Amino acid sequence: MTIAEALGAADLEAREARLLLAEASGFSQASVIAFPERTLSREAEERFLSFAARRRRGEPVAYIVGHKEFYGLELAVTPAVLIPRPETELLVELSLQAEFSSAVDLGTGSGALALALKRHRPGARVVAVEASAAALAVARRNAVKHGLEVEFRHGRWFEPLAAERVDLLISNPPYIALGDPHLAGLGHEPAQALEAGPDGLEHLRRLVAGAARHLNPGGRLLLEHGLGQDAEVRGLMQVAGLRGVRTWPDLAGIPRVTGGKA
Ligand SMILES: C[S@@+](CC[C@H](N)C(=O)[O-])C[C@H]1O[C@@H](n2cnc3c(N)ncnc32)[C@H](O)[C@@H]1O
Repeated sequence: MTIAEALGAADLEAREARLLLAEASGFSQASVIAFPERTLSREAEERFLSFAARRRRGEPVAYIVGHKEFYGLELAVTPAVLIPRPETELLVELSLQAEFSSAVDLGTGSGALALALKRHRPGARVVAVEASAAALAVARRNAVKHGLEVEFRHGRWFEPLAAERVDLLISNPPYIALGDPHLAGLGHEPAQALEAGPDGLEHLRRLVAGAARHLNPGGRLLLEHGLGQDAEVRGLMQVAGLRGVRTWPDLAGIPRVTGGKA
């Protein structure tokens, strides 16, 4: 089968079909475009057709190929972790706007946020907390892959920190309300990474409530949240006594990250 025939047989959106074909064959995406007459090996053809069938059944591309790029880092991903989203890069950008010598990423998943912070602030101590042991194993693998020394801790939110205080707390917690129709389209990703009680605020509430006990004076809390949750998260932070509370929009203009200072 040639590249052109395989792409035609895939019955997928052209960009995705090319990406999966490149992954299955080892060819670059540029050569998949440039040399459609090239014949695929039997092995590459079978691998591609199996990838295409999985994609047609709705499996996300990142799980099929086993990796996803986040803030310039190629991260391994498995169905144990949320696939890092481009909008979450805003949390990294905001974190890097100020100095910090210690930071904690709560609910690290693939390790995306903690590893991006460590890459750009190699002198800072970066801790990553995660409740899922399977997710933590993926995050550790990513740290080894990139040679980044992050301290990983297994446990629920602030529990593994005991009485420790840091300069920066960041989290992209689960924030989708149970019964939200968006959950139906995210069925391949772990429910533990997505679901957040009847109003979607269960984890955001816990994180805001515990933050002041773990921030140094002047330290910052930055939390990602969903569309329409910004006013409530600002209110929670103000009630918790944080100062300078404000929200930043993502590239799509959606209010995405809210933060304040201790
Ligand atoms: C939305 S995902 C974010 C993953 C990663 N930080 C990212 O941005 O791609 C939320 C993560 O929080 C973890 N999590 C959920 N409840 C938790 C808890 N109580 N304590 C610690 N981590 C938790 C989930 O397992 C999941 O990995």
